[in-house]
Amino acid sequence: MAMSKGQVKIRRMAEADLERIKAIDRALVGPDRVLSWPLRVEAHWWVYRPMLNFVAEVDGEVVGFLLGDIRGAEYGTDVSGWIDMMGVAPDHQGKGIGERLVEAFCQACQDNGVTARVVVREDDERLIGFWTSVDFHRGNLVSYER
Ligand SMILES: CC(C)(COP(=O)(O)OP(=O)(O)OC[C@H]1O[C@@H](n2cnc3c(N)ncnc32)[C@H](O)[C@@H]1OP(=O)(O)O)[C@@H](O)C(=O)NCCC(=O)NCCS
Repeated sequence: MAMSKGQVKIRRMAEADLERIKAIDRALVGPDRVLSWPLRVEAHWWVYRPMLNFVAEVDGEVVGFLLGDIRGAEYGTDVSGWIDMMGVAPDHQGKGIGERLVEAFCQACQDNGVTARVVVREDDERLIGFWTSVDFHRGNLVSYER
């Protein structure tokens, strides 16, 4: 059941949250981990240092995170808000927390006049289901390989 707004606090991530985020990331292994994000959060954090990051707190504990950035213009897109990775602790999934994190990110994008974007694997049905539910639609970037 979705949690009410008062039960979940969304705020910008501080570097002190990293240990807790890594613990959530470690819990998202095996079937709980989506195909699109096999890399550990820590690796992403230290390499890319994204700047537009949010966490969700319930009863003062961080239970979810979203890492992203406003950057561009990649692949002919305008400067955009790119969502790099997100995760909600397994025992808090399905309660609307992921959606709240995305709303916070999209609000920041709107405040900056940019489109929010995310890249997922085409065979990642779970993640595609989530993005569709939170009103994202398929964009026009594709990848080619040989
Ligand atoms: C994807 C994820 C972030 C979604 O967060 P969540 O808090 O569970 O999602 P919400 O409860 O906010 O759901 C929002 C909507 O998405 C839908 N949704 C969530 N997961 C879904 C799924 N797997 N398939 C289809 N729809 C899904 C919900 O039904 C809901 O839709 P509704 O409002 O129409 O009912 C979370 O499930 C997760 O962390 N998964 C693992 C991610 C991962 O592996 N990360 C690696 C570390 S970076």
